[in-house]
Order: sequence, then C-alpha cells, then structure tokens
Amino acid sequence: MDKKPRHLMNPLDFSVEELESLMDLAKDIEANREKYAHACDGKKLATLFYEPSTRTRLSFEAAMLNLGGSVLGFASEDSSSAAKGESVSDTLSVVSCYADICAIRHPKEGAPLVASQHASIPVINAGDGGHQHPTQTLTDLLTIRSLDGKIENLTIGLCGDLKFGRTVHSLINALIRYPNIRFILISPPELRIPDYIREDVLIKNDIPFEEVIKLEEAMPSLDILYMTRVQRERFFNEEDYLRMKGFYILDKKKMTLAKDNMLVLHPLPRVNEISVEVDEDPRAAYFRQAQYGVYIRMALILTLLDIKV
Ligand code: NCD
Repeated sequence: MDKKPRHLMNPLDFSVEELESLMDLAKDIEANREKYAHACDGKKLATLFYEPSTRTRLSFEAAMLNLGGSVLGFASEDSSSAAKGESVSDTLSVVSCYADICAIRHPKEGAPLVASQHASIPVINAGDGGHQHPTQTLTDLLTIRSLDGKIENLTIGLCGDLKFGRTVHSLINALIRYPNIRFILISPPELRIPDYIREDVLIKNDIPFEEVIKLEEAMPSLDILYMTRVQRERFFNEEDYLRMKGFYILDKKKMTLAKDNMLVLHPLPRVNEISVEVDEDPRAAYFRQAQYGVYIRMALILTLLDIKV
C-alpha cells in the first residue's frame, strides 16, 4: 500500500460526519446484503486477539466473510508467538505482509496504538485493557440512532462497572459531540467513572450529568439504558468482585418504571445484570445491537480499505 494506512484507535478518529456516513453505509449493507457480497474478494483480515472475546472477534470475522474476503489470526495470547516473547510491534510488522487489514485486542492500554505505528496496513483497536473499544462504540451509536433516526436530545443511563468498562469510556467520548446529550451515571461508589472521564471529558466540555447509586431512581427519565457487566478480570481480588457482582439486576419489575420506548443496550457478554425475563421485552435491544455490530464492522472494513461499492 503506497498511501499511509488509516487506523481506528479511538472513536474520535472519525468526525461526526464520517460517523454518519459509516452508519449510513451500515444501514445500506443491512438492506442490500447481496450488493456487498464480493466487495472484499481476495482481501484478508487478520484478527490478533491477546485477550478473550466471542462477539468482537467473530463479528469481525463474519463481517469480512460477508464481504467475500477471508480471515486468519489467533484467539489467545498462548497460541501466538507472544508466548515466545515476541513484541506486538514485531508481530504487526510481520502480519502486514500476510493480511490487508487487522483487528487487535490486547489487555494493555495503548498496545494497539503501538502496533499501528509498525503496520503498513489499517489497524483497528478491538479493545485495549480498560481504555477504549471503538468498534463497540460504533455498534452502540448505530443502535442508539435506530431509536429515532438521529442522535440528539437524549438522556442516557450508563449502569454497572463504569470504572473498568472500556465500552462506557469509549461511548461517552463519542456521544459528547452530539447535541443535547445528558448522562446519568449509575454505579456503586467503588465503580464510579474514572476522574479522567468525569473531569477531562464531562466537566471540561460542560456536559450535563448526574451520578446516582440506585437504578430505580434513574429509570423513569432514561431514553437509553446501557447496562454493563462487572469486569471481573480487571479486579485485583475476587472478594471485591463477588461483593460488586449482583449489585444491579435489571428485571421485569424495574422495566415497569421505564418509558415505553426506552432501549436497553448491553455490549454483552451478560453475566447476571439483565435477567433473562427481560429478553422478550420489545425494549430489549442487545441482541439486535450484536447484529448491528456485524454491519458496522463491514462498513468499517470497506471504509478503511477505501473500497467503494
Ligand atoms: C465488551 C468488552 O470486551 O469490553 N464486550 C464486547 O466486546 N462486546 C464488554 C465486556 O466484556 O463486558
């Protein structure tokens, strides 16, 4: 590739207008699957996952396969040369010779950024530690936009592990660029949003927000409820995790407090924070959200590879 490749590390790497185009493309893909079925014939996507994943890795792979391309990669650190001590940058220099685009997930914050500096192909951050998860954010934005075709004038409740949940950090960063967005941050005191988001993102940009402990209190005013699981793997001890797990359980009874058209989102996997009885509620949008994840990743692959259909 002669041109410098374009990467996606952070949702802010795309302007609001570019995000709109990406979401429009995802909607067109949803409506016209056939039209895109050979758009990436002959292209390869590498998925380099140093941390467990089901949805993100499989949705990237499904996205590339739906576009007619092929996939290669590894699903865990021990099945890669990282186990032999190879650095991420060396791995990326090599992968650049084998694939046209790559998605990387790593437990260390910033690892995908370092990787991108050594790659001659587009690199997508598929989650770095507790930091960012931009493709989940694109999925979340597309799902939020499905509520009434635009992202504005919304009260968004983010509930659960706001300290370690990277999807929440990424989503707040992305949403503050839209008009009249207000947040209700719902968490136990131990899992409050980190200062670098509260101070440097919310307060600095004059974004209205409240922090509350009780979900019931927030429920009636929400347009979107974004549930998250307690991030067990980022806790220092199991005892604290067990104390926090089970703090919030969204069930049918709590759903009666919500607006009729509120959407419930969850990046998944769910542990116990949404009772399965909520799945049949038409406001439960989390499985639809997982489906949108494939369309938006298809749109992203086409955009980063600069393929027009
Ligand atoms: C999220 C993640 O990996 O951060 N999962 C996902 O990509 N859909 C959320 C989570 O693991 O809780």
